[in-house]
Amino acid sequence: MKAERIKASIRTIRGWPHEGINFRDVTTLFEDPAAFRSVLNRIAGWAEEEEFDIVVGIDARGFILAGALAYQQHLPLVLVRKKGKLPFTTISEDYELEYGSATVETHDSPIIEGKRVLIVDDLLATGGTALAAARLIRRLGARAVSFAAIIDLVELPGREALTKSGIDVYTVID
Ligand code: PRP
Ligand code: ADE
Repeated sequence: MKAERIKASIRTIRGWPHEGINFRDVTTLFEDPAAFRSVLNRIAGWAEEEEFDIVVGIDARGFILAGALAYQQHLPLVLVRKKGKLPFTTISEDYELEYGSATVETHDSPIIEGKRVLIVDDLLATGGTALAAARLIRRLGARAVSFAAIIDLVELPGREALTKSGIDVYTVID
């Protein structure tokens, strides 16, 4: 499927959640099986070459992609959640949003140590969320961290910030 067809499946909501933001709503892509499969197949094709050991999904839309990918690649799935949702011992990292700050957490899981980890989300903007997730995964001893998403908001410096931090980035569309 062509990139333009994938783009057409994503709804844009102007002025949400704040004035001046064009919100890229991937729920319409998830409702379109051909577009959803095309995105997953592209990410999976790249991931197969990279030979990851573990898939990490970011709360909330990243879970949908990461779950499908972990199933398809026969890999373990680890969750990075917004603060206060995980029941066992957690580690946490704060990060900056456009307005204020937020915190992500993951379980203090022993399975990450020494592994090649792929972090997955729907969209890369400033990179703040992905970098916070990468800090968590590195604290747990990962050998290498990469990141994949459907959308790169290229007017924002997310890809550059991740690359500078030693994280390989794969995105399907700009
Ligand atoms: C969106 C998106 C990414 C993040 C990207 O999530 O799903 O996780 O923003 O932005 P960044 O690169 O500037 O960090 P959001 O924070 O809106 O949370 P949600 O999943 O709860 O909607
Ligand atoms: N997260 C940060 N910026 C966003 C945007 N424009 N659309 C969807 N999610 C986002």
